[in-house]
Amino acid sequence: MSSYKKKDTIIIKDVTHTYKTETGLLPVIKNLSMSVPENGFTAVVGPSGCGKSTLTKLISGLLQPDEGEVYLSGEKITTPRPTVGMAFQNPVLLEWRSIIKNVMLPLEIVPNKLNSLEKEQRAKQLLSLVGLEGFEQKKPSELSGGMRQRASLCRALVHKPEVLILDEPFGALDAFTREDLWQVMHNLRKEEPFTGILITHDLRESIFLADEVVVLSGRPASKQFFVKVPKSKTPKLESLYSSKSIDMLKSLRKQIEIAQSQQEQNK
Ligand SMILES: Nc1ncnc2c1ncn2[C@@H]1O[C@H](COP(=O)(O)OP(=O)(O)O)[C@@H](O)[C@H]1O
Ligand SMILES: [Mg+2]
Repeated sequence: MSSYKKKDTIIIKDVTHTYKTETGLLPVIKNLSMSVPENGFTAVVGPSGCGKSTLTKLISGLLQPDEGEVYLSGEKITTPRPTVGMAFQNPVLLEWRSIIKNVMLPLEIVPNKLNSLEKEQRAKQLLSLVGLEGFEQKKPSELSGGMRQRASLCRALVHKPEVLILDEPFGALDAFTREDLWQVMHNLRKEEPFTGILITHDLRESIFLADEVVVLSGRPASKQFFVKVPKSKTPKLESLYSSKSIDMLKSLRKQIEIAQSQQEQNK
């Protein structure tokens, strides 16, 4: 029933997850199957509280599914996976470390063959790719929200993670800063190809950045709808105003409404 290919980098196969809370069982994900090919980038959208962040924890191994399996690069995930890069809505940067030292953090944790000079060069190269050249020695509080999120993306990518998971990374930014960050994401993807999942509630963001958009149903979440997004090599913001994009946004919006009403009914 699931349409994954064995060589896909991320495979979520018939996954079900239920939280056990003080007030009883809360089924959050039910029979969810989806996959992301190598160097693919898939956006996941769905009603608030439907289980998106739970899904990211299942992929990174922070949670184990009750049923079904998650595979990364062909390996079944049973424990937390340090080779997954993550970035969240609020970039959790350590205030007592400079920006470059924050970016280098995963290189101190995830085993690698780089010496300290190479680690620094790697972090520096990424920071310059996202437009933060010259800010290496600043402290996080000296940067704007958009700049901190750029640094957080560098930190998520510095160890060349096998998978990048972004959980509403641009949700707290103003609209223009967010659009700047979308361009940064395209640059990063061109220079540093990665396989990733982007959780977002911004439908424009989903079609601008991802190759495929999955709409989750209301809780318990399963795959309700998905659409492939044709991509040009140099995507431009104007493309979001094309009739093809608008049609796609309309149908995604409709799917979200269906998912929301389903979640209301299940409350
Ligand atoms: N650790 C937990 N224990 C119990 N319930 C949780 C836990 N984490 C999340 N939930 C609940 O599970 C549901 C899905 O949460 P989440 O995955 O964070 O949704 P989303 O990211 O889509 O908004 C919500 O109702 C949330 O309150
Ligand atoms: Mg969430």
